[in-house]
Amino acid sequence: MDSIIVRGNGPLSGEIPIAGAKNAALTLMPATLLTDEPLTLTNVPRLSDIKTTNELLSSLGTEVAVLQGGQIIVLDTHKITNHTAHYDIVRKMRASILVLGPMLARDGEAVVSLPGGCAIGARPVDLHLKGLEALGAEIELKEGYVHAKAPTGLKGAVIELEFASVGATENLLMAATLAKGTTVIKNAAREPEIVDLADCLRKMGAQISGDGSTDITIEGVEKLHGATHPVVTDRIELGTYMLAPVIAGGEVELLGGRINLLAAFCEKLDACGISVTETKRGLKVASRNGRIKGVDVVTEPFPGFPTDLQAQMMAMLCTADGTSVLEETIFENRFMHAPELIRMGASIEVSGGTATVTGVEKLKGAPVMATDLRASVSLILAGLAAEGETIVSRVYHLDRGYERLEDKLSACGANIERVSE
Ligand code: UD1
Repeated sequence: MDSIIVRGNGPLSGEIPIAGAKNAALTLMPATLLTDEPLTLTNVPRLSDIKTTNELLSSLGTEVAVLQGGQIIVLDTHKITNHTAHYDIVRKMRASILVLGPMLARDGEAVVSLPGGCAIGARPVDLHLKGLEALGAEIELKEGYVHAKAPTGLKGAVIELEFASVGATENLLMAATLAKGTTVIKNAAREPEIVDLADCLRKMGAQISGDGSTDITIEGVEKLHGATHPVVTDRIELGTYMLAPVIAGGEVELLGGRINLLAAFCEKLDACGISVTETKRGLKVASRNGRIKGVDVVTEPFPGFPTDLQAQMMAMLCTADGTSVLEETIFENRFMHAPELIRMGASIEVSGGTATVTGVEKLKGAPVMATDLRASVSLILAGLAAEGETIVSRVYHLDRGYERLEDKLSACGANIERVSE
């Protein structure tokens, strides 16, 4: 199993290209199941989760062509030849549940294993299933699998989500494109990845309005066709690398970054004394007077502060002035990075969904364990400014969400290397 070794090495300088969004790609790829014509995605990030999705789609009958080293993927699902998404693949990645809606909408049947994914809480899929039932699907849970049927096709309905779930909104949005009549998803998630999915579906012939707001309206159509679509910029990769020069010092340009992808995050950085400026090519980040002020953060659905940046923000606040309180409202078990940061000398107290961080002068390198995707990268960020060596083990989590992380950071002067045991 690989580890990553980071040695605190002073200020960073240079540029980091930001890839296409993992979370957008993971919902755009299953959209292939809605059409018998090819769907071409460009700006695809090169990640293990994308490989897993290719494997999953291939198992359902999709012909997958990977071009330009993985940046372009052509998905051709002329026919769905198998309607069961098996546990072996689904357990590796929770987003596999996103094949359920499209498969059901196209062929009236789908069997999908209940998902696994990151160990950051219970993460049920009840909202996906209730929404599909509202569209007329019959759903049964048997031996760890969701069995869904709609022999006479799905029918449009008004669905009010109890919580603005990203995955449920995506599954229902895809399913509704081929349902008969009008569907309205109320209290829909508003994440940029949802807007990106809607843009792609419109190119495929779907009739969708209101995406990016709380109410999405979909007029079902008979058939969707092929399309070519570039994956939106990864705002979480962007936010992660924006914190690197804040933690290590220096100035880095994030190529392809835009403030509107991360407005709430940028507001918090501003409150900490960090300037974010838009350039022709992306964003530049610099500390205004060298010291970082502590700040309180509450994670919320978009447009609020993203839960996927909470761990990285905590790593940054470990050496900020004063006390910061971080409240996690989306996932109930998402402070697993805290004990690891404490091993590096951080002062953090966790109580339920709240973590109180009291800034210390400097962190010290230590062997630490990655527990989930965003937790892993927070430990790498912390290591950038720690004294001595930080060894992060179990980095397979990182490879799910960050392409060429060591290359991107070392190109800016970080002392970071991957070692295989
Ligand atoms: C997506 C992102 C993930 C991000 C999360 C919140 C992908 C592939 N992953 O995950 O990186 O952290 O949004 O921004 O896009 N819930 C239910 N029932 C459901 C669905 C969700 O109770 O049927 C709960 C979950 O347990 C969780 C919360 O709702 O507590 C948020 O989940 P959701 O928005 O669905 O996140 P994901 O789509 O899984």
